[in-house]
Amino acid sequence: MSAAIKNVTVIGSGLMGAGIAQVAAQTGHIVTMVDIDEMAVNKAEKRIGDSIKRVAKKKFGEDGDGAAEFISGSISRLGTSTDAVASVGSADLVVEAIVENVNVKKKLFADLDKAAPSHTIFASNTSSLSIAAIADATTRKDRFGGLHFFNPVPVMKLLEVVRIPETSQETYESMCDWGKAMGKVTVECKDTPGFIVNRLLIPYTLEAIRLLER
Ligand code: NAI
Repeated sequence: MSAAIKNVTVIGSGLMGAGIAQVAAQTGHIVTMVDIDEMAVNKAEKRIGDSIKRVAKKKFGEDGDGAAEFISGSISRLGTSTDAVASVGSADLVVEAIVENVNVKKKLFADLDKAAPSHTIFASNTSSLSIAAIADATTRKDRFGGLHFFNPVPVMKLLEVVRIPETSQETYESMCDWGKAMGKVTVECKDTPGFIVNRLLIPYTLEAIRLLER
């Protein structure tokens, strides 16, 4: 595990946030998963519980004790909160996976910037927004980047690590180390629309539609 990143706060417990929180807890990190209300975090906890059981079955097969230990250890490292600002006090890394709206993301990061320790790295899981535009809301652009996971997070191996010009080398390396500690294959991306995968995938899909039209 990366020496720098141990405590992780994941904001947004929807499809992506719950997956990121699950894999972080499975890989030994202390995780706080945040959403706007109890109903959302409870729903995510239930989904994570079911998913971890599937992962344990695949990983441990007939080894029931190993599976039980893996499940209880992962769950014990996963806490929840409905107060984003209060949840970042001891975070080494904040991964944001909330609604895809630049103003909502900027407002969240501006609030977190005031509350998080100075060493905390901020990252957005956005698929389509500019990381630089979001980072603009903070005073820590050198400790800001993108961590773009793919759905379903417990299964998909790729992680796009997005740098803006201000992202420091140290921050970039910490994000990559953390990605690897999460069991992912990291790939460096510039902050361009669609990063790498969606930039390739969307023209590929459009070409299939054009082919059908022709
Ligand atoms: P989702 O709709 O499943 O989950 C978003 C969650 O964020 C909801 O539970 C919502 O209550 C919560 N939320 C909204 N505002 C919040 C706030 N201010 N504070 C705390 N929680 C808040 O969305 P999904 O699909 O998980 O996407 C999240 C992010 O991940 C988006 O930026 C999206 O572009 C990105 N993404 C999505 C992928 C996908 O396949 N769905 C793939 C890769 C990235």
